Amino acid sequence: MEVIVRKTYEDISREGAKIIRKKMAKKPDLILGLATGSTPLGLYKELVRMHKEEELDFSQVKSFNLDEYVGLVPDHPQSYRYFMNENLFDHINIKKENTRVPDGMANDLEAECLQYEEEIRKAGGIDIQVLGIGSDGHIAFNEPGSSLGSRTRIKTLTKQTIEDNSRFFEKEKDVPRFALTMGIGSIMDSRSIFLFADGERKGDVIAVAIEGPITADITASILQMHPRVTYLLDEAAASKLKRRDYYRWVDENKAKVKGATT
Ligand code: F6R
Repeated sequence: MEVIVRKTYEDISREGAKIIRKKMAKKPDLILGLATGSTPLGLYKELVRMHKEEELDFSQVKSFNLDEYVGLVPDHPQSYRYFMNENLFDHINIKKENTRVPDGMANDLEAECLQYEEEIRKAGGIDIQVLGIGSDGHIAFNEPGSSLGSRTRIKTLTKQTIEDNSRFFEKEKDVPRFALTMGIGSIMDSRSIFLFADGERKGDVIAVAIEGPITADITASILQMHPRVTYLLDEAAASKLKRRDYYRWVDENKAKVKGATT
C-alpha cells in the first residue's frame, strides 16, 4: 500500500496522470479501469493536456468503466457514457470501440453483466483501476452492505443516492433507480488500483477506509487486502489519517530502495 499526499487537488491529478503516462510508456496497450464523478476530472484534464501537448498516445489503450445507470441512453447528459466522451474520450486518440461502459440499455441486463466480466477477462484484465470514494465509503456503486466478493451486477440504488443525484435531473422521479456496476471482487482483480480523494468532506471516510477495520459498511476498506493499491490524497482528504507522518516519511524515502512501500 502507498499513500501519496500532495498539497492540492491539481497536484494529485498531475501525479496520477504522470503514473499513467509512465505505465503507458512500458505498455502502450494498457487496460485502464475508469471512474466518473467529480474526483477524476482533474486527472482526465491532465491526460488530455498530455495528449495534446506531449503526444501521449492512447491509440492502443482499452478502457472499462466502473458503472452506468440503467435506462439512460448513451447521449443522455447524465449517462456515464456521455460523461466519459465529454471529459476524456472525445479529446484523446483512444478508439471509441476500445472504450467500454456497461450498457444500461441492454435488453438483458444480467447477460450484459456477465458479458462485461468476460470482456475484461478476454482483454487480459485491468492494469490500472482509477477509483473515487463516496462519502459513505462506496467504490463504484457498491454501497454499504455490498458483498465484498461481488461481481458486475444490477444494483438497486439507495434512497440516499437517488436523493443526492436528483440535483442533476429535472425531477426526482427522473433519477434512475438501478445501475450496472462492477463488483468489489471485479475491482480487486485489477493489477493495480489508484484511489483519488480530495477535500475535507472526504477526510473522515478516507481515515476509516485506510486505517479502520475491513468491513462491508465501508466497501473501500477491502482495498487494504489489495497488494498494489495507491491512495492519492490532497492534504484536506489526508487530514484525519493517524499515520500521516509515516506515509510522508515513506514517500520521501522510497526512492532510496526500489519497491519500498508502506
Ligand atoms: C463513479 C463512481 C463513484 C464515485 C464516488 C465519488 O464512477 O463509481 O463511486 O467515484 O461516488 O464521487 P465524486 O468523485 O463525485 O465525489
